[in-house]
Amino acid sequence: MSDRKYLIAANWKMNPAPQGALAKDSPYRTLSSVDVWVFPTYLDLQPCIEAGLITGAQLGSSAANGAHTGDVSMTMLTELKCRSVLCGHSERRHGRHETNEEVIAQTIAALEAGLHPIVCVGETAKQREAGEEKEVVKKQLEGLPVESRILIAYEPVWAIGTGKTATPAQAQEMHASIRSLLPKDVRDSTRILYGGSVKPDNAEELLRQKDIDGALVGGASLKPDEFQKIVSAAQMR
Ligand code: PGA
Repeated sequence: MSDRKYLIAANWKMNPAPQGALAKDSPYRTLSSVDVWVFPTYLDLQPCIEAGLITGAQLGSSAANGAHTGDVSMTMLTELKCRSVLCGHSERRHGRHETNEEVIAQTIAALEAGLHPIVCVGETAKQREAGEEKEVVKKQLEGLPVESRILIAYEPVWAIGTGKTATPAQAQEMHASIRSLLPKDVRDSTRILYGGSVKPDNAEELLRQKDIDGALVGGASLKPDEFQKIVSAAQMR
């Protein structure tokens, strides 16, 4: 077992914060044994931060400031006291056509602002069927700076919100491949999360894999009871 601390991240997407999320006994609070971070909409960032949750944004701009209607800069997120930001979530890459270059630019901007970015990577079903998954993910990681504050989330696009999960063996294989691509200085310390239909009944087995250091949870993170069980699975490790 590695000494990388487990991180369970809740991606609430375009949904309000779950009922009771800000309470003192909420499952969304970080623990001494497991890190727990939440990614609410922009509107809920401040209430979460004020309630003492470790909070990140779902998106930040690669631009520093200026005429970018609708965008929020990484520095603004830092000033609000965000810890993290998601870069390149597949719903941005595929739904909003963000390119690999744009995602790397966002990651660099996040680092410059002092954030701990979670860089999301993953292949589509078609790319996996064609046996291209490792090549696709390798390209998505190209140009990533060497920096210990970066976290990576492997989220196969075909597993997000679909109820299909990568098998623990498939996930481990990709996580090991990602780790092997990381520069030596940060290879052992970088946390690589798995995402894509993580649920209470599959979390434990996924988290048991050698190179899986936590989970980025969408749907199940909106249900406090389910999320609690996923955090508990990480605590048992
Ligand atoms: P899911 O979402 O758990 O609902 O599949 C994961 C994500 O999009 O980060």
